[in-house]
Amino acid sequence: MKNSRNGKRVGPVPENKAQLKIHGAHAALRRPATETPSDLGAEALRGISTALNTLLADMFALYMKTKNFHWHMSGPHFRDFHLLLDDQADRILAVTDVIAERVRKVGAPTLRSIGDISRRQRFQDNDAEGLTGFQMLAELREDNLQMAAYLRETHDICEEQGDVASASFLETWIDEAEQRVWYLFEACRQVGAPS
Ligand SMILES: [Fe+2]
Repeated sequence: MKNSRNGKRVGPVPENKAQLKIHGAHAALRRPATETPSDLGAEALRGISTALNTLLADMFALYMKTKNFHWHMSGPHFRDFHLLLDDQADRILAVTDVIAERVRKVGAPTLRSIGDISRRQRFQDNDAEGLTGFQMLAELREDNLQMAAYLRETHDICEEQGDVASASFLETWIDEAEQRVWYLFEACRQVGAPS
């Protein structure tokens, strides 16, 4: 009988508790002494850490854009939109530390600088002046929709590689991204708002 993870052979099944311990210890010893021990293989580690670090850069980019729009909001809905974006930015920022620490827990380095973020981020920055509140909300609605897609993609990579802990977090963050899309969509449904 073969041990399998999503139908893929990952090695012989340990026959008893003692062998299970030895199997786990050997997996950890395959790593250099400077890396956090983990029973995820080197290939899995590369795939998971690349996906999570890219997602982390995207989270920071989206956080900064949400704060940018929070700070530069103006117009008749100022108070509502200003507070909505502050709340969303707080929730996005809270996710960043968990992503970075997941990368460290599986034994890889994570982001080190703003430069590192800008080299990896997939979202476009928006430095434009004079945007209306509705334009800001519509752009964030689209970005958060894209974020939900990135999260789903990252979830699939983690799940394929057996990183169920990251996959579990990602399921929650998909729901949070969808909630942001919902709020932004409803707040945009006003006469004269861009679709
Ligand atoms: Fe503020």
